[in-house]
Amino acid sequence: MPLIAFASPKGGVGKTTVSAHMAAILARRGHQVIAIDLDPQNALRMHLGVPMREEGGFLCDLESRPNWRDCLVETPSGVKLLPFGPQDPLRALELSVALMQDPSLLAEPVRDMLATPGQIVIIDSPPGPNAGLTAITSMLDLMVLILLADGGSAAIIPQIASNRFLGRGTLASRMADRGVVILNQVDAAEPLSDAVLDMAQATLGKRLIGAICRDQGLAEALADRSMLLDGEEGAGEDFQLLADALVARLRLTKPERPGYRGLFEWRRP
Ligand SMILES: Nc1ncnc2c1ncn2[C@@H]1O[C@H](COP(=O)(O)OP(=O)(O)OP(=O)(O)O)[C@@H](O)[C@H]1O
Ligand SMILES: [Mg+2]
Repeated sequence: MPLIAFASPKGGVGKTTVSAHMAAILARRGHQVIAIDLDPQNALRMHLGVPMREEGGFLCDLESRPNWRDCLVETPSGVKLLPFGPQDPLRALELSVALMQDPSLLAEPVRDMLATPGQIVIIDSPPGPNAGLTAITSMLDLMVLILLADGGSAAIIPQIASNRFLGRGTLASRMADRGVVILNQVDAAEPLSDAVLDMAQATLGKRLIGAICRDQGLAEALADRSMLLDGEEGAGEDFQLLADALVARLRLTKPERPGYRGLFEWRRP
């Protein structure tokens, strides 16, 4: 444990970028991290430096109930990755139907992963509602919603604050205290961006756990197959602060020594 998902009602907001950086920073700090790509775009592996020739996948074969341990891909970041697998739009649709009919296809292996003490599982999801995320939502310890600091987000923030976006009833209220938000691509020099950050802070309070500045260095790092992991000024520093916020929120205790990938204590907040 724990299980953390990065999600958003919108596409292109930075889910994959942020989940890859959080996974890699936590792994660098000595935690054991598995990252699961639920998105048929199969892009998480690019961020984690897995070569394109690597064809293996986990989600794409889920209906045959593969052993998840056999599908793990070691990455240079120290994160163990379960890639979606080769892209095929028809297969992705079939998989969604299969997952809606039988959520245990994904829930069971994820439960098995979480049974290992100290194991952190990070989920990168496709935009909007999706069958993979739905299959594991009840198991989540943290659902991190990513929004851009733009006008579109300003319209969604009040819904998030009132939990209406989670739906209605008992299931929605059960998830409410596990939903947090981060704003990505904040540009302090842009009045709208700044105003949306102000509004998010005022409306969401402690549920806004981080903000990440717009940083051209991220695109350059991706092209270079590297990541901003050294706390560099800009997004690199914001990522470290966000990782600190996740650690605090989930009360993760420090692994015994840097690079140590063994057991560590974890308590549900
Ligand atoms: N803080 C940032 N500053 C500048 N560019 C960023 C930032 N965060 C993300 N990007 C860029 O925005 C683009 C979209 O990011 P990413 O692919 O992570 O979004 P996504 O939400 O996973 O998209 P999708 O919905 O397609 O899965 C990428 O080109 C990425 O480099
Ligand atoms: Mg993505």
